[in-house]
Amino acid sequence: MRIDILTIFPGMFNAVLNESIIKRAQLKEKVKIVLHNIRDFSLDKHCKVDDRPFGGGPGMVMHPEPIFRAVEHALACASGNKAAARKRRFGRSRGAKRKIILLSPQGKRLDQKSAKKMAKMKQIILICGHYEGIDERVKRFLVDEEVSIGDYVLTGGELPAMVFVDCIVRLLPGVLGEKKSLHFESFEGNLLEYPQYTRPANYKGMQVPQVLLSGDHNKIQEWRKEESIKITKKRRPDLFRSGEKKVKRG
Ligand SMILES: C[S@@+](CC[C@H](N)C(=O)[O-])C[C@H]1O[C@@H](n2cnc3c(N)ncnc32)[C@H](O)[C@@H]1O
Repeated sequence: MRIDILTIFPGMFNAVLNESIIKRAQLKEKVKIVLHNIRDFSLDKHCKVDDRPFGGGPGMVMHPEPIFRAVEHALACASGNKAAARKRRFGRSRGAKRKIILLSPQGKRLDQKSAKKMAKMKQIILICGHYEGIDERVKRFLVDEEVSIGDYVLTGGELPAMVFVDCIVRLLPGVLGEKKSLHFESFEGNLLEYPQYTRPANYKGMQVPQVLLSGDHNKIQEWRKEESIKITKKRRPDLFRSGEKKVKRG
């Protein structure tokens, strides 16, 4: 997979892209992550990327042109074919294994199900907004989807892009050491994960549940399933109910 990130603050990504699992995934060539500074695509002599909103109102709005040009560049880099990339400039990605995504509080909320779909793409282009937001024509004529990371407003799309990249990259085949670790985590089968413990078995009088020390794998599995159900019912009844509906539908 290739991920292109369009931002006016590429420096913000240094820590996240150059540490831990995301760093290793790039070294193992499971993912190629490329940063593009939107300012480099401005035609303004001062590399301006924003202006006042038509009709008045507070704040600044990001110009469409540098964003359209940056997306065109990211597409051309990936395909190695500038003409083809230019040709689809105003069309969406229809059917292609590629998504142009605008991080936006107005978008569809990112969840594990949509992350799994995204992890099947060949190329994802992420556009990070700033200021009051982005010219509406980018949303209407360029992007395939708007994605939100939650119902709150951040100053820019950089942190949401980092969340998105982290969430997707760990799902790519061969990125996490143990394949199984993806199968037993929260949201699989509409359940939250069971409680985890490690050594020591007794920490200052706080005991690990006896069943986990029993060596009886069937009992351990049973206990984990029960705990998962208990935790999900208590903390995320909505998630539990949608799991039940799925089972009933068969
Ligand atoms: C200050 S916000 C703009 C908010 C916009 N005026 C509104 O009310 O919808 C600037 C940028 O931050 C990003 N952003 C802010 N909150 C976000 C969220 N919850 N999820 C994804 N992106 C977000 C978007 O890229 C957005 O264009």
